[in-house]
Amino acid sequence: MDKLSVEHLLGIKYLNPNDIDLIFKTADHFKEVINRPIKKVPSLRDITIANLFFENSTRTKLSFELAEKRLSADVINFSAGQSSVKKGETLIDTVNNILSMKVDIVVMRHGNVGAGVFLSKHVDAKIINAGDGTHEHPTQALLDSYSIREKLGSVKGKKIVIVGDILHSRVALSNIFALQLQGAQVKVCGPTTLIPKYISSLGVEVETNLKKALEWCDVANVLRVQHERMDIKYFPSTREYTQLFGINNQILDNLGKKIVIMHPGPINRGVEITSDVADSDQSIILNQVENGVAVRMAVIYLLAQQIKR
Ligand code: CP
Repeated sequence: MDKLSVEHLLGIKYLNPNDIDLIFKTADHFKEVINRPIKKVPSLRDITIANLFFENSTRTKLSFELAEKRLSADVINFSAGQSSVKKGETLIDTVNNILSMKVDIVVMRHGNVGAGVFLSKHVDAKIINAGDGTHEHPTQALLDSYSIREKLGSVKGKKIVIVGDILHSRVALSNIFALQLQGAQVKVCGPTTLIPKYISSLGVEVETNLKKALEWCDVANVLRVQHERMDIKYFPSTREYTQLFGINNQILDNLGKKIVIMHPGPINRGVEITSDVADSDQSIILNQVENGVAVRMAVIYLLAQQIKR
């Protein structure tokens, strides 16, 4: 059987093109499964998975839990807000206590960059990074690429622009790695204050004119401004941000072509994207969410195959 080249899913930067291919082929199978009347397979009946969320989440948390249950794994959930982390317990102590309950795989979202890598070196379980601070969100990037492949036939050769707050976005960084591994061209577009200085070292061009960026691309992946990660003001006002970088029907209608619109959620309607665009037939936002379950089933299934039973 084909195997992933990695023992954990800590970031897209640790994957190679064959890994992505294998994840997508496995996800194709699971997408068919979750569209059957009985949406469940017994593959992971002997596996226990802990979902540890130290940061808020709606889509990722529910999507992982559903993926695990569709694979028949036993699932336990942990949210930092209601846990003994508030009493001063360390991350390693918290996780080792959970692992002593015979847990095989840990899915973790954490506010600190590198939290998943750190954990993978200190505990005996498979680790899946569900978002670490401003660093990586690998399953989001995989489901984004999977959705582009589904909509346009392939990712190779496609032109993708990522619009918005690139500086604070783990979705942007993981998408850049994933898209480039598959042979896509990537540009970013946003206020210069929200573009990281290292971006050119990743082979990514910057376009600060939204109209030009949209004229160039096949797909626009639109990001939310992450006010919760900002301790200073990066642009004068939300109104000005929306005027310069908000996607609306008027700007799309004037392109003379139909581009694909994506957004990882949560959406701030009327700020980075208008409702008529988010809900239009150009938008694949809800397809992304649907594909997230199949892609996460694939990642969990492939990592579980490496566990000695
Ligand atoms: N896209 C994403 O990570 O959404 P959540 O924060 O709701 O999980």
